[in-house]
Amino acid sequence: MSVFRHMVTALFYVVLIQRSVSAAQGELTPTFYDQTCPNVTDIIRGILLNAAIIDPRITASLVRLHFHDCFVQGCDASILLDDPDTTEKTALPNNNSVRGFEVIDQMKTALENVCARTVSCADIVAIAAEESVVLAGGPSWEVPLGRLDSRSANRSLATTALPGFNETLDEIKHKFAAVGLDTSVDVVALSGAHTFGRAQCFTFEHRLYNFTGIGDQDPDLNETLAARLREICPSPTAGLSNLTNLDQTTPDAFDNVYFKNLQIEEGLLRTDQILFSTHGADTVEIVNDFSRSQTAFFEAFVESMIRMGNIRPPVDAVGEVRLDCRVVNANNSTASGTEDAHLVSST
Ligand code: HEM
Ligand SMILES: *[C@@H]1O[C@H](CO)[C@@H](O)[C@H](O)[C@H]1NC(C)=O
Ligand SMILES: *[C@@H]1O[C@H](CO)[C@@H](O)[C@H](O)[C@H]1NC(C)=O
Ligand SMILES: *[C@@H]1O[C@H](CO)[C@@H](O)[C@H](O)[C@H]1NC(C)=O
Ligand SMILES: *[C@@H]1O[C@H](CO)[C@@H](O)[C@H](O)[C@H]1NC(C)=O
Ligand SMILES: *[C@@H]1O[C@H](CO)[C@@H](O)[C@H](O)[C@H]1NC(C)=O
Ligand SMILES: *[C@@H]1O[C@H](CO)[C@@H](O)[C@H](O)[C@H]1NC(C)=O
Ligand SMILES: *[C@@H]1O[C@H](CO)[C@@H](O)[C@H](O)[C@H]1NC(C)=O
Ligand SMILES: *[C@@H]1O[C@H](CO)[C@@H](O)[C@H](O)[C@H]1NC(C)=O
Ligand SMILES: *[C@@H]1O[C@H](CO)[C@@H](O)[C@H](O)[C@H]1NC(C)=O
Repeated sequence: MSVFRHMVTALFYVVLIQRSVSAAQGELTPTFYDQTCPNVTDIIRGILLNAAIIDPRITASLVRLHFHDCFVQGCDASILLDDPDTTEKTALPNNNSVRGFEVIDQMKTALENVCARTVSCADIVAIAAEESVVLAGGPSWEVPLGRLDSRSANRSLATTALPGFNETLDEIKHKFAAVGLDTSVDVVALSGAHTFGRAQCFTFEHRLYNFTGIGDQDPDLNETLAARLREICPSPTAGLSNLTNLDQTTPDAFDNVYFKNLQIEEGLLRTDQILFSTHGADTVEIVNDFSRSQTAFFEAFVESMIRMGNIRPPVDAVGEVRLDCRVVNANNSTASGTEDAHLVSST
């Protein structure tokens, strides 16, 4: 290659690397990898199946990982970055709580072996979430693809943008609205993801002891369940990381039993129960609908997951296909990893 060609090529990279994530994301489509990595979903599913044999909880953990990625500067795999100065992994809602990183690494390694520098980490997380729902007995859907990975993470944003276990319904609605989601159906349908997975005692212990500071318990918590939970979480100061099932009835199945539980005051988190127990809230009838019809829940869940998966990074954000989901690509790496960079480098 002549020096001139090198210069031209370098110029193209500079231009292309600067393309904004949002511009590239105008075109999310389920067929994005049909030519470049047609087996992407099979490969992700294969690794998920193996992981779920050792750890049945992994399906729930991967769905939550996608949620915690998307609510913080869009679905851009920012949650996967390890840089200690900015990592979102130690933000309060994530610290010692969000999981599944090793399985995403395995998926990335397998994909780099088959179609190098092609599938973004953000898309891997999105597909892994969908395949996890399917594996647990829930609906399947065509996942829109073509996301790019961020060049940065933002711990302070993760701390404030993600909903907390002690927030009011209004606060939760506000956080959904802040990322462009609907404050009624999206809140209820996506909360239905608490149909599987686990929670630590510190996330609901306040309902068991001293709820309003007079040694009382949450009046919207079923007495029978409360007694059982006090055995798992013996005091406000001990066993705070002990785990119990979010759905006490069908703990690992993706079904609509979560909504039936709310009707008998068996929502584990306060933020689950208030969807049904808040007098006059527009969420109550949606809970009743989903409790009556699993089909209605599944259809709404798919639509809401697609909406959540479409949350975009800021317009000026720059994206790439990371080679290692935990670190941004080197500045001097010629392959930025974007589709367009490949096209240029092959000329
Ligand atoms: C509406 C506001 C929400 C709040 C306040 C909330 C809060 C929580 C909390 C406190 C836990 C337990 C974490 C721990 O103990 O380590 C949890 C677990 C979980 N959340 Fe949420 N969440 C919300 C919405 C969502 C949404 C929208 C999804 C997905 C669409 C989701 C999926 C999950 C899953 C699957 C688990 C279990 C994870 C596992 O077992 O690893 N949550 N959530
Ligand atoms: C890709 O999928 C096709 C058919 O689905 C299969 O024949 C082929 O072996 C797969 N390749 C890899 C690398 O998994
Ligand atoms: C995260 O958890 C660790 C304990 O594993 C703790 O030392 C650290 O202070 C926590 N970080 C934050 C930001 O809460
Ligand atoms: C991180 O998020 C905060 C909002 O919590 C915002 O003010 C700040 O500009 C963001 N930082 C970066 C580097 O994007
Ligand atoms: C939960 O919020 C209430 C007020 O909304 C507050 O009094 C209480 O201390 C909080 N509990 C926890 C565990 O954060
Ligand atoms: C209950 O909460 C109140 C107010 O925060 C506090 O004064 C009291 O010591 C607490 N009681 C117990 C048993 O923790
Ligand atoms: C919860 O933790 C406490 C104290 O750390 C422990 O004694 C207890 O056995 C645990 N309970 C369960 C059900 O795991
Ligand atoms: C509490 O749960 C039991 C089943 O575990 C149910 O029979 C009862 O009606 C529930 N109580 C309330 C107030 O919903
Ligand atoms: C890339 O360059 C920017 C400044 O242009 C610098 O802040 C950043 O640390 C560099 N990143 C890597 C991975 O070398
Ligand atoms: C990029 O820079 C790193 C150190 O900053 C160096 O180790 C690596 O060899 C460089 N790669 C290329 C392709 O120049």
